[in-house]
Amino acid sequence: MPTFVYSTDSPATVRADVLVLPIFEGPEAGPGIKDVKGADLLALYAEAKLKGKKGEPLLVPNTGGLGVAAKSVLLVGVGKRRDVTTDSLRRALGRVAPQLAKRRTVATTFPQVVGRSPEDAVQATVEGVLLGAYRFDRYKSGKNEDHPEKPALRTVTVLGSPRWTGRAVVRSLEESIARGDIVSDAVAWARDLVNTPAGDLTPEDLAGHAAQMAKEVGLECKVWTEAELQRGKFGGILGVGQGSVNPPRMIELKYKGGPSGQAPIALTGKGITFDSGGLSIKDAAGMEWMKCDMAGAASILAALKAIARLKPNVNVIAAIPSSENMPSGSAIRPGDVLKHRGGKTSEVVNTDAEGRLVLADALAYLAERKPRVIIDTATLTGACMVALGRDIYGVFGNDRGLIRDILAAGEAVGEPGWELPLHRDYRHLIKSQVADVRNAGKDRWGGAITAALFLAEFVGDTPWAHLDIAGPAFPEKAGDYWPNGATGVPTRTLVQYVLIQATRPSRRSG
Ligand code: BES
Ligand code: ZN
Ligand code: MN
Repeated sequence: MPTFVYSTDSPATVRADVLVLPIFEGPEAGPGIKDVKGADLLALYAEAKLKGKKGEPLLVPNTGGLGVAAKSVLLVGVGKRRDVTTDSLRRALGRVAPQLAKRRTVATTFPQVVGRSPEDAVQATVEGVLLGAYRFDRYKSGKNEDHPEKPALRTVTVLGSPRWTGRAVVRSLEESIARGDIVSDAVAWARDLVNTPAGDLTPEDLAGHAAQMAKEVGLECKVWTEAELQRGKFGGILGVGQGSVNPPRMIELKYKGGPSGQAPIALTGKGITFDSGGLSIKDAAGMEWMKCDMAGAASILAALKAIARLKPNVNVIAAIPSSENMPSGSAIRPGDVLKHRGGKTSEVVNTDAEGRLVLADALAYLAERKPRVIIDTATLTGACMVALGRDIYGVFGNDRGLIRDILAAGEAVGEPGWELPLHRDYRHLIKSQVADVRNAGKDRWGGAITAALFLAEFVGDTPWAHLDIAGPAFPEKAGDYWPNGATGVPTRTLVQYVLIQATRPSRRSG
C-alpha cells in the first residue's frame, strides 16, 4: 500500500511521476489546471475531443515544456462541476487508478463537492485511488497479458488549496486521508477473503485470518471450536457444517472504545465458505461463484479492522458464524430439524437455505448480550438480487431509526441500499408442522422477505437490521473501482454507521 502525504505545494512544482488534475465536464478547468503555465491543458483536453465526463482520461507526457515538475500530467474528467459527488470522485479516480498504480509517485488535486466538506472529498479521492488499484492476482503464476506488472505506487501526494495551511485544517485533512487509507485497506482485505477460493479458505482458515487481524489491530478475539459450539448448543452452525470435512467455527470479536457499561453495537455476517447447496444441491452452472458466500462475514471482519484502527468512542461486538455447506453422508437432510442457540427449532426443508440457519444461532447469541442494535449482513437470497440488481443491497429490520441510519450511511459512502418490507403477514409461509419455523417457503415468491422473517425469529425485541447483499457483494463484473470479483460491500457502510453512532448518545444501555 502506498503512503499518502498532504501538501499545499503548487501543482506546478510538486515532484511526481504523474500529476493528476481533475477536469469538469464542458470541459472546464478543475483545481490546479490554472497553475500550469507552460501549456493550455484544457485546450489539449478539448482538442482530444474529450468532454470531462466521469473518468475520461488524457495523459500528457512532460517532455519539458509543460511548466510542471511532474514527469506527466493525467487529466481526468469528473463530470459537471455542480454534480460532483464524493461517489463520482471515487469512481473517476477509480477508473484511472490501474494506470496510476504503475507509477511510483503520484500527486493529485481534488475538487470541492457541493454540500460536503473538503475532508469528505479528500477521503473519496484516496479511496478511488486505492480501491481502483486493487487486484487479486495471488494465483497468477507468471507474467502474461492478464498478469499485469506488480503495482509500483509508493507515494501519493494530495494537494490542498494553498489557503488550507492552518494547523487545524491540515490536521483534519490529514485525518481524512488516513481514514480513506484505513477504510480502503479494510475493503481490500474483505475482497481478498471473498476472492480466495473456498479450498484455501475453510471456516478454520477464516477464523485464523480473523485472529491474526485481531492481534495486529488490538481486538479481543475468541474462536469457538466445534466442541465449544456443541457445548453452547449452536445447532444451526453445526448442522450446516456437518456435511463438510472442514468443521465450523464462530468468530467472536470485541472492540472497546466506549464506556465499559455501554451496550455495544452487535454485528454478524454470513460466513458460508462454500455453498454447494448441500443435499439440495445447486446447479453446476455458476457454482464456482459460491466461494463468495462468506462476503457478509468478510465485511464484518473488515469493518472491525477499520474500527479498531479508527478508534471511535463506542463498543462493538461481533459473532460471525462460519460453516461449509456440503453434501455428504453426514450432511443434514431435507426434513431434519435443528435446534438453535436459545432453544428454537427449525425444520430444514431446503439445505440450500443454509445462511439463515447459521445466522439464527449468531443472532440469538448476540441478542443475549443485550446490545443497542444488531446488524447482520449476508449473501442470503437470489430473490433479493432479482428485486434490486447488482448495485443495491436490501435492508430489512424491525426498527425505523436503525433502518434510516443504515440507509443514510450507505448513501454517504456510495454503497446504496434500499428498504424491503419485513411483511409480518408472510410469516405463515414459513410455518412448520413439526418445528418452530421452516427454513424456506413453499415457493420462491417473496424469497428475500421470508428469509428476513426467519431471521427476525431470533433477535427478540432487539432493534435489528438485516442487509441482503447477494447482489452487490460479488457482481461478477468489474465496476469503476473494483475489478471482476468481490467488491467488499457493505464494509464502508458499516464503518460509516459505527463512526456516526460514536458521535451520538446510546439509545439503550445495560
Ligand atoms: N448463497 C445463496 C444465495 C446467493 C445466490 C448468493 C446467488 C449470491 C448469489 C443462498 O444460500 C441460497 O442458496 N439461497 C436460496 C434460498 C432458497 C433455497 C430458499 C436462493 O436464493 O435460491
Ligand atoms: Zn448461501
Ligand atoms: Mn444456499
